[in-house]
Amino acid sequence: MNHRYLFQNRRRFLRTVSFGAALFAVPGAFAAELVRTPAQTEGPFYPDHLPLDTDNDLLVINDKTTPAVGDITWLSGRILDSKGDPIRNALVEIWQCDNNGAYIHSGTGNRDKQDKNFQGFGRFLTGSSGEYLFRTIKPVPYPGRAPHVHFAIKMKGRKELITQCYIEGHPGNEKDGVWKGIKDEKARKSVTIPFTPMKGSRIGELAAKFDVVMGLTPEA
Ligand SMILES: [Fe+2]
Repeated sequence: MNHRYLFQNRRRFLRTVSFGAALFAVPGAFAAELVRTPAQTEGPFYPDHLPLDTDNDLLVINDKTTPAVGDITWLSGRILDSKGDPIRNALVEIWQCDNNGAYIHSGTGNRDKQDKNFQGFGRFLTGSSGEYLFRTIKPVPYPGRAPHVHFAIKMKGRKELITQCYIEGHPGNEKDGVWKGIKDEKARKSVTIPFTPMKGSRIGELAAKFDVVMGLTPEA
């Protein structure tokens, strides 16, 4: 977000409230600029059978020694409420296809090429910081879709938000019906994240950060 946008947005915000209310509302002015993560289709490939391992390392299944094929990526972020405060005890689930375009699903395409070492699905329960972390692969395209990672955020066993994140700058985004279906430009930008080389990694690992802003207001 550039400064000009911040400035304009704050001006607009201040114009819409009375002077007295503005005084009280100013500390929340930043929160008002948070873009709520848009909900997106779950798609057909949420695992219909869970892998033997559902931890946050998708590269290695249990104690196998052979890792999955793909560009190693540390995918992290925070689960935030509508005011920008971290949400604890949010169960973050991700799923994505392997480097050959196959999901952990009996109806997946590319089954014959499936990477048996890719977990394809993982879970992380947030603590008080709201942060989550996965080690996975950089998503790849498959017919009809730009690269993406599916997310489900569950709280108290309930699916609160289903969404997907995309690779910033990937040419496939512009042709992707789901991505284009997010009509609000800021919302689309909020799910389109850079995958950048991780500092100090000698094996070319990538890092990607995806903060999820829920429509929830904090519990009193
Ligand atoms: Fe998908």
